[in-house]
Amino acid sequence: MGRSLKYEIPGVDPRVPLSDVAEKGWTSVFASTASGRAPFQPDGLEEKPRRVLEIGFGRGEFLLAMAAREPEVQFIGIEVSWKRTLKMARKVARAKLENVRLVDDRAEHSIQALFEPESLEAIWINFTDPWPKTRHAHRRLIQSGFVGDAAVALESSGKLFVATDDVPYAHQIDEVLSGAARLQNLYAPCPFVSEVRGRARTGYEDQWRSEGRPLHFFAYGPSPHSHAGRATCGRAKRGGAK
Ligand SMILES: C[S@@+](CC[C@H](N)C(=O)[O-])C[C@H]1O[C@@H](n2cnc3c(N)ncnc32)[C@H](O)[C@@H]1O
Repeated sequence: MGRSLKYEIPGVDPRVPLSDVAEKGWTSVFASTASGRAPFQPDGLEEKPRRVLEIGFGRGEFLLAMAAREPEVQFIGIEVSWKRTLKMARKVARAKLENVRLVDDRAEHSIQALFEPESLEAIWINFTDPWPKTRHAHRRLIQSGFVGDAAVALESSGKLFVATDDVPYAHQIDEVLSGAARLQNLYAPCPFVSEVRGRARTGYEDQWRSEGRPLHFFAYGPSPHSHAGRATCGRAKRGGAK
């Protein structure tokens, strides 16, 4: 099976090669949609589009739900699995969502090339792979270098949301995010919360909930304490198993 960008996608293929975005920019990529929802104002000045990124969308439930709810927002999904990206491309095309673009790559390798500084309203990273074996821990996405790049890509009012079911990874995420320049914990004084009212669920999340695993939701952005009092802190036992 080849890696053709047009493989079995009904209608517009939402997948975009990294090189296209790097060369032409997102404005050009999104302006080519059938709706012609190009972000231009009548006087010709370019309007800043609202742009949201999900990294590791997996089976895509969360990204599809967000994109259907907010058609005026441009959604970008980065996923390292080519098969998942291909399946998601079919779902996006079948749902006729014109505000989604998919990039098949490692987020830590592509985030800087894909996004100008201060160009994203939000970044969602849901149930990122925990790589539980010590010798594999270096493969975890949430590391200070990547988080630094993500913080640069976020608008000054942008937010970074991270979720995990893995207790040791939750401690690492807490350490990395709390040490990141430009980012403040929106759940402070809690490091994370274990429930967020009204939040859409992801495919993996449903599975982890049915298995009774502990959930950890982190939210970082520019303004501290904006959620204080609305949530109860979650608890993670240091060194505990999943
Ligand atoms: C455990 S699954 C979670 C999927 C989905 N977010 C959910 O909650 O149902 C993690 C996903 O992240 C993807 N992934 C892992 N590392 C990645 C990376 N460095 N860049 C982009 N995607 C990644 C995997 O291929 C997988 O689809």
